[in-house]
Amino acid sequence: MVVYLVGAGPGDPELITLKAVNVLKKADVVLYDKLANEEILKYAENAKLIYVGKQAGHHYKSQDEINGLLVEEAKGNDVVVRLKGGDPFVFGRGGEEILALVEEGINFELVPGVTSAIGVPTTIGLPVTHRGVATSFTVVTGHEDPTKCKKQVGWDFKADTIVILMGIGNLAENTAEIMKHKDPETPVCVIENGTLKGQRIITGTLENIAEKDIKPPALVVIGNVVDVFKEMNQISD
Ligand SMILES: C[S@@+](CC[C@H](N)C(=O)[O-])C[C@H]1O[C@@H](n2cnc3c(N)ncnc32)[C@H](O)[C@@H]1O
Repeated sequence: MVVYLVGAGPGDPELITLKAVNVLKKADVVLYDKLANEEILKYAENAKLIYVGKQAGHHYKSQDEINGLLVEEAKGNDVVVRLKGGDPFVFGRGGEEILALVEEGINFELVPGVTSAIGVPTTIGLPVTHRGVATSFTVVTGHEDPTKCKKQVGWDFKADTIVILMGIGNLAENTAEIMKHKDPETPVCVIENGTLKGQRIITGTLENIAEKDIKPPALVVIGNVVDVFKEMNQISD
């Protein structure tokens, strides 16, 4: 028995890796989240498919329940795939699932995926680093676990580019915090449904981006690289 923790990429089904496709083809069971694109599941032609993501109006599985199910399926099958959007270790709770498997002595392998944090900006032609403009980038969550006794995100990042995942619900609060450390005129680009049919690109500044109509899933890129993107794609606000 082996469990593969597999990244499905940011949405476009062609952005899955060849290794992920080969693992899905030999899967007996696939446990999957709300993927940006379920078309990928077609590769798991012989597998039992188990949805473990959130469902509007329904009770959804807690992380402990998912860990338990993963262990149970691993004990009863040769090849179990745990499929996650983007990369399994970028805000994917993949580490917690691996620790649960280790505790039970279950073998595991990892298949990285194209994370939305970089794959989505690159797809629209937005470089997260650019010579002379940005030599560093930070990827951060915009939604810290509210049950934490102490917040870990301080928003005083030194990186030239900030990429925020899960950042739409708290965009006004978070941009207000960032403006304590960065110029309010710093350019911002939000990409909704990146790499998918409904993709939308919204640009603005730290000061005004929260006023715009934005719906998740979306990610936020902050920094002067957004001006490089606009120049490359001849976009004006
Ligand atoms: C729980 S995190 C998982 C990230 C994932 N593991 C990855 O590496 O991309 C989900 C967040 O990723 C971002 N995201 C994922 N897919 C996206 C897409 N196709 N377009 C825009 N943002 C996306 C959004 O910020 C979303 O709230």
